[in-house]
Amino acid sequence: MRTPLIAANWKMNKTTEETRDFIIQFSPMVKDINNVEILIAPPFTSLAVAAKYLKGTGIKLGAQNVFYERSGAYTGEISPSMLKDCGCDYVIVGHSERRQYFHETDAIINKKLSAAQEVGLSVILCVGESLEQREEGKTFDVLKTQVSRGIEGAQPAMLVIAYEPVWAIGTGRTATPEQIQEAHGFIRNMLRETFKERADEIRILYGGSVNAENAHTILNIEDVDGALVGGASLKPDSFIKIIKAKGAMK
Ligand code: 13P
Repeated sequence: MRTPLIAANWKMNKTTEETRDFIIQFSPMVKDINNVEILIAPPFTSLAVAAKYLKGTGIKLGAQNVFYERSGAYTGEISPSMLKDCGCDYVIVGHSERRQYFHETDAIINKKLSAAQEVGLSVILCVGESLEQREEGKTFDVLKTQVSRGIEGAQPAMLVIAYEPVWAIGTGRTATPEQIQEAHGFIRNMLRETFKERADEIRILYGGSVNAENAHTILNIEDVDGALVGGASLKPDSFIKIIKAKGAMK
């Protein structure tokens, strides 16, 4: 049985003070939540303060990006061991915003994944098709390429996949349960081909306009093991509702 994972991707939002205030308000809300792993991925500048206030809450900490080199002359970059040092358990790689705005390729994303797992960080690998690709009937080709190239050499015990159709991110438009199940089932089969029975350890999250209203439907789809939440994770009140849509109470 896979433990569901509900992850907050705050993207480029929240100062250190706002991060602290969120955690102080949010952490008591989850103290009775059972059987769900909760993760917050704030911007780099908030990692240290988040680590301090998350201590003892059971809530995991993640980063939204990482560089693949260990150290050296890479102005502006952050290494996997720096994230470990800040208290991170997870890192998100290959988010569509990074593919789109920062021209990250599957090869770069795979290097980031390997470097992160090497220091013991679990990796959430994001994949998903654009609207144009879906309309051209290329969804499964895109998923096949992004997943197969992304997971090359990966360790399944430290791997999570997030299916985020680009057209559903920040648009208020979610994929239908049929579209989600179809994509997740496809990814699950690919993982089985690569990792055999160890594929069953890997969680596949859905992301793209998940909110308090649609969480129950989405999180109860057969092959959905949790959610990667953007906008609706920025407020404790809406994020907790998504978690409660999945989590059993103690
Ligand atoms: P939204 O939930 O704001 O659509 O963002 C989804 C996402 O990109 C999470 O990584």
